[in-house]
Amino acid sequence: MKTWLISVSVAAILISGGTQAAGGAAEGDAAAGEAKVAVCLACHGPNGNALVPTWPKLAGQHAQYIYKQLMDFKSGARENAQMSPQVISLSEQDFRNIAAYYSAQQQTSGVTDPALAELGERIYRGGNPATGVAACTGCHGPAGMGLGAAKFPRIAGQHAQYVDATLKGFRDGVRANDPNKMMRGVAGRMSDEEIAAVSQFVQGLTEAVAAE
Ligand code: HEC
Ligand code: HEC
Repeated sequence: MKTWLISVSVAAILISGGTQAAGGAAEGDAAAGEAKVAVCLACHGPNGNALVPTWPKLAGQHAQYIYKQLMDFKSGARENAQMSPQVISLSEQDFRNIAAYYSAQQQTSGVTDPALAELGERIYRGGNPATGVAACTGCHGPAGMGLGAAKFPRIAGQHAQYVDATLKGFRDGVRANDPNKMMRGVAGRMSDEEIAAVSQFVQGLTEAVAAE
């Protein structure tokens, strides 16, 4: 376990070019993080695989992204009535440790509603040129795995209900913590139908689906 964690940290340092570009998340201690997450379990589930689909899965998410979100909830850049109070008594080192813990957990993947799969995949891979919706692939990758060093989150396997609500949040400006309005620029051009379809596609996206 220790050896594995060290190799993950080394990989993170290599990816970030040996700098602290990873938001300091590379310093996290997963065991110390695990000791802090008892309270998170109620909503984010065992090992960060939330059972209720309105709550996001954290398992397998990039540590750099998790750390940024926790910092954003603390500063108020991202607000949510259920989530914001959770970070009040936690330190930045706790955030690094919690991020290290959740990023090392195995995510349970999901499935796509076949009725929405075709439209969802089209949006994901090609966007909507007519309305200027950018392809999700460009930042989140063909398999939805994101890019930790750039703080592009993994969205593969995330609950469709959470993704749908989050995209609407970006569209309406309720969530506005995306650097350079990267997500507001995308979601602001999407219809409810497109959001529902791409959310379903993301929920069932895996490396195997991406390779099809
Ligand atoms: C009462 C339920 C609840 C509890 C307890 C809770 N959370 Fe959350 N959490 C949420 C909700 C709801 C969201 C989504 C907020 C939104 O839509 O912006 C969230 C979002 C997050 C996110 C961002 C996920 C993403 O994909 O952007 C992180 C990270 C997170 N929580 C970590 C934690 C940690 C760590 C704890 C424990 C210290 C915790 N949460 C406890 C409800 C909860
Ligand atoms: C230009 C790059 C870019 C493109 C294109 C893009 N995203 Fe994102 N996306 C981001 C970034 C950066 C974030 C993280 C914002 C933050 O720091 O909170 C994000 C966050 C998200 C989230 C929130 C994840 C979470 O766990 O809360 C979802 C869902 C999402 N994107 C879906 C999509 C979908 C679907 C598309 C295509 C329709 C798309 N994105 C296109 C850059 C992009």
